[in-house]
Amino acid sequence: MKINANYLNLKESYLFSDIAKKTNAYKAANPDADIIRLGIGDVTLPLCKAVVDAFHAASDEMGVKETFKGYGPEQGYGFLKDAIRDYYKEEDGVTLESDEIFISDGAKSDLGNILDIFSKENTVLVPDPVYPVYVDTNIMDGRKIVYMSGNAENNFLPLPDENTVGDIIYICSPNNPTGAAYNHEQLKLWVDYALVHGALILFDAAYESFVTSKELVRSIYEIEGARKCAIEFCSFSKIAGFTGTRCGWTVVPAELEYEGVKLGKLWLRRQTTKFNGVSYPVQRAAAAVFTPEGRKQIAENLDYYRGNAKIITAALDELGIWYTGGVNSPYVWLKCPNGMGSWEFFDLLLTKANVVGTPGAGFGAMGEGFFRLTAFGDRERTREAAERIKKLLK
Ligand code: MLT
Repeated sequence: MKINANYLNLKESYLFSDIAKKTNAYKAANPDADIIRLGIGDVTLPLCKAVVDAFHAASDEMGVKETFKGYGPEQGYGFLKDAIRDYYKEEDGVTLESDEIFISDGAKSDLGNILDIFSKENTVLVPDPVYPVYVDTNIMDGRKIVYMSGNAENNFLPLPDENTVGDIIYICSPNNPTGAAYNHEQLKLWVDYALVHGALILFDAAYESFVTSKELVRSIYEIEGARKCAIEFCSFSKIAGFTGTRCGWTVVPAELEYEGVKLGKLWLRRQTTKFNGVSYPVQRAAAAVFTPEGRKQIAENLDYYRGNAKIITAALDELGIWYTGGVNSPYVWLKCPNGMGSWEFFDLLLTKANVVGTPGAGFGAMGEGFFRLTAFGDRERTREAAERIKKLLK
C-alpha cells in the first residue's frame, strides 16, 4: 500500500489550525488573558428567525410519515435551486437555469472536490496572497501551481499577464484574504484571457453579499462570455451565518465544454457517486434566506458586520495604517506597522493586546508584512479590540 505522497508536500497543518494552536497555548500559559478572536472568518450572529423557523418546520416534517424524506434529488431540491436562480436574477441581473445549480455542503468542499473532474496535468494559476484551500487541494493532486502577485501597487487585484498562463484560474472577489474586489472592466480582462487561452476560471463568490458598490462584480456571469469559461462557487456561510449549518452551491453553466465534454455532466457524475446531498431541513433553512423576511433579516446581520468593519478601519485610519478591504468585504487587510513581519505582528497583538488576527504570510509569500482582521466578530468585542490596538500602537 502506498500513500498519496503529494500530501507530504503540504505544510504541516492548515493555517487556521496553526493559529488556534498558538492562541490556545498562549491562553493555557496565561489563563487570565481575555482574548478577542478576529482571526478565522467565522460568523458570530445566530441564524435569523426566518431560517430557524424553516429549519424547525422541516425537522418536524421529517418526523411524520406523510412528509418524511429519504434521499433528496441529486442536485438539490427544486425549491432551493429556484430560489437561488431568482436571487441571481434579482441581485445581479444574471439568468441561470435551475439545473445549472448544484447544492452542496459549502463552497470549500466544492472548490476542493471540483478538481476530481480535471486532469492533473493542468497548470493552475492562483493569486498570491491566496485562500490556502486553492493551493493545498492542488498540491494534494500534484498539479503545477503558478502564482500571480498581489501587492499594494495593484491593490491586491492581479490582472492577466501574457507571460503567466494557466489552465485553471482561481479568482476570489471580494477577495479572501485581502478584501479587494474586481470591477467589471477588470474581470472582463480575466474572462477574455480565459476564452483566448481555453482556460477555466473557478470563481469564488463566497463574499458577494458584502458588495454594495455598483461598479464591483458579485457574480462572474455579469461579465459577457463568462458562461463559456467559468464555474462559480458560493455559500450560505457568510450571507446567512451557515458556517456551522453547512450549505452552499456551485453553478456550472450548460455552455461549459472542454475537449467536447460538458463539465456539468462530469460534475453531476462526480457528485452522484461521492456525495448524497445536503439534508432536507438545511435546504429548507437555506431557502428561507431568500424569502422577504429572510432577506430583511440577513440584511440587518450584514449591516452589523459592515459596522464592525467600520470600527476596525476607523482605528487604522486614526493610526495611519495602510489597508484594503473593510468596504464591500468583511475582511480588512492591513500593512503591519513599523515594517514588522506578519507573525511578529501576530505575536505582538496576541501577547500585548490579547487580540488574534491572521498573519498575511499564512496566505502566501506576498502576504508577508500584512495582516488580516475579520469583521465577523461580536460588536462590543470588536470595539474593545480596536481600542486595544489603538492603545498599543499609538
Ligand atoms: C477564513 O477565515 O479565511 C474563512 O473562514 C475561510 C473559510 O470560509 O473557509
